[in-house]
Amino acid sequence: MELDFSQLTAAQRYKLLVGLVVPRPIALVSTLGQNGIVNAAPFSFFNVLGDDPPILIISIENKPDGQQKDTTRNILDNQEFVVNLVDEALASAMHGCSTAYPSGISELEEVGLTTLPSRGVAPPRIKEAPVALECKLYQHIQIHEKRHLFIGEVLWLRTADGIIDPETLRIRLDDSGGYFPIGRLYADRYTTVRDQFTLAGGEAYVNAIKAMGRS
Ligand SMILES: Cc1cc2nc3c(=O)[nH]c(=O)nc-3n(C[C@H](O)[C@H](O)[C@H](O)COP(=O)(O)O)c2cc1C
Repeated sequence: MELDFSQLTAAQRYKLLVGLVVPRPIALVSTLGQNGIVNAAPFSFFNVLGDDPPILIISIENKPDGQQKDTTRNILDNQEFVVNLVDEALASAMHGCSTAYPSGISELEEVGLTTLPSRGVAPPRIKEAPVALECKLYQHIQIHEKRHLFIGEVLWLRTADGIIDPETLRIRLDDSGGYFPIGRLYADRYTTVRDQFTLAGGEAYVNAIKAMGRS
């Protein structure tokens, strides 16, 4: 099947792209509203983009009525946000946070999550999340009247004990670390990282990785 994207509606392009580019990581973003209420919402148009500076990106569409989502407004207002990563235990509550509550209501309270102060930014992190990436806004790009890209620079990382091997800085994606993130497929479908396999690299590749300090 071959499809000319210029002949498709945005909704059709959305369905194809999110169904094919899978799994996508999920950012459960906590932000602080001007009313002092902590907002939290999940976004899977999300990924890390680089290490120097350490940046990640989140893409947020406006609401169907054209209004900015609370997360967009809060990031534009105070330039800071926390990306809380989502594991299996947090899946259901994360999904609940995507409900469009009025701005005066915190999704976190509605789904039974709690917060703790961050180290370097004003918005708090989600206590129940295994990983929190505290970010300041690096760049905001409005690519369409209804879509905003936020590039965040990671200032602080906090994980639950045991996830990071302190000697190697490798992440324990198994029972030893207890870190089992989920990924988004499409609609209400998610996946886990429990099915893994490895591939041996060639000598040149292994040496290059070592030379960069990434082994
Ligand atoms: C797993 C998941 C991923 C989502 N990804 C996105 C996304 O990448 N961009 C987006 O605009 N909305 C996305 N949504 C919808 C938002 O979470 C939803 O609109 C939410 O109500 C926004 O909340 P806010 O107004 O508090 O910011 C996603 C929802 C779910 C459940």
